[in-house]
Amino acid sequence: MARKYIIAGNWKMNKTPAETKALLSEMVAKNNGKTACEVVLCVPAIDIPAAIEVTAGTTVKVGAQNVHFKDSGAYTGEISAQMLRESGVEYVIIGHSERRQYFGETDETVNLRTAQALANGLKAIVCVGETLAERKDDITFEVIGIQIKRAFKGISAEAMANVVIAYEPVWAIGTGETATNEQAEEVCMFIRGLIAELYGTDVANDITVQYGGSMNAKNAADLLAMDNIDGGLIGGASLKSEDFTVIVDSVK
Ligand code: 13P
Repeated sequence: MARKYIIAGNWKMNKTPAETKALLSEMVAKNNGKTACEVVLCVPAIDIPAAIEVTAGTTVKVGAQNVHFKDSGAYTGEISAQMLRESGVEYVIIGHSERRQYFGETDETVNLRTAQALANGLKAIVCVGETLAERKDDITFEVIGIQIKRAFKGISAEAMANVVIAYEPVWAIGTGETATNEQAEEVCMFIRGLIAELYGTDVANDITVQYGGSMNAKNAADLLAMDNIDGGLIGGASLKSEDFTVIVDSVK
């Protein structure tokens, strides 16, 4: 299978530009040139120039945490795909549960943002995941299925080559409660199966499916050893270069 492992950090709303330079310098020193996986750090928009400066000429990639779905216009506070591209950003996280929970993100806007990112040459890390109530109600697969179908509505099979799917159970984010290896694998396998139904087995076999939610230096190796988990989207542990590097080095 040709699929690529990707370890991506999501710094969320942490680090100033000066702090970004300091932390990313450590990340680069520890991770530049690694080939077992792609290493990406998704930083706050204001930190992108600092991040691009520090990672220039290295294998460490920079990502953003959101992108607007229009080219330009009267959308105060928003950032366009072209702005990200011109700044040197390669990846963008779309539809993180925190954006769904606090900022009115819906499956429809996730779809629009994904289409816009892909049309402008960005790679989209599209997040899906169930809440604790949905898991307890035993509707996890139904919820994930709806999120996936809506997120990729109208997206072509060719464009899917630039899509990464991050399975992030909401109940595991920032809680210290990780999905078990089996719980994470079962949903990532379900996601791959659904992509096979929608796009065929070639696209499904090639797509990177990450797990996210309290992934850390201790549990990463076991999660990443599962057949259908091809990387991680890391929050808290991506703010410490030692921990993040242990996760990167867990990819076999
Ligand atoms: P934590 O790793 O802090 O649980 O965050 C996961 C996450 O939301 C990454 O996008």
